[in-house]
Amino acid sequence: MNEGNKGENIVLIGFMGCGKTSVTKELAKRLNLNFIDMDEKIEKAEGKTVSEIFRDHGEAYFRELETTYLKSLKDQKNKIISTGGGVILREENIEMLKKIGVVVFLQADVAHILKNIKDDHKRPLLQEEQDLEGKISSMLEIREPLYLSTANVIIQTSGKPIKSIVDEILAIL
Ligand code: S3P
Repeated sequence: MNEGNKGENIVLIGFMGCGKTSVTKELAKRLNLNFIDMDEKIEKAEGKTVSEIFRDHGEAYFRELETTYLKSLKDQKNKIISTGGGVILREENIEMLKKIGVVVFLQADVAHILKNIKDDHKRPLLQEEQDLEGKISSMLEIREPLYLSTANVIIQTSGKPIKSIVDEILAIL
């Protein structure tokens, strides 16, 4: 990172299964910075998994927690921040993300996302879905423009190893 970026947080956004968590951890390691995983922090604060929060209180409640947690990040510095895939669904979150740091969108195609999440039971919005591919496609159609309009940097992740995704990010920032 150049001198101009000193102190600035890096915020990773993107659809479920695009690689945010792995890229966040690798980026933090390479830059010798701490990372924050928003979903993990929310789970810790609530004493429940994201699935349990959705099950017990519904999605709207989770979205409130997400916005509240995002607001608490405004004074952070030098952090790599991994967000939940739906963080861009609220206009006020988009504004906050842009203020918190440089926003990197990890853009993945449906096949890549499907491969990463098909055996995963941690994502409440995709559970018990007969047509998982169709569901991902229709969610992506709504979300893609939001990710794109929030991002400062766009990185394709489909089919790439984590290391080369991180190399690309570091070459740009
Ligand atoms: C969500 C994505 C999840 C988690 C929640 C909702 C979404 O995070 O925040 O299940 O709406 O896309 P990941 O993107 O880390 O899976």
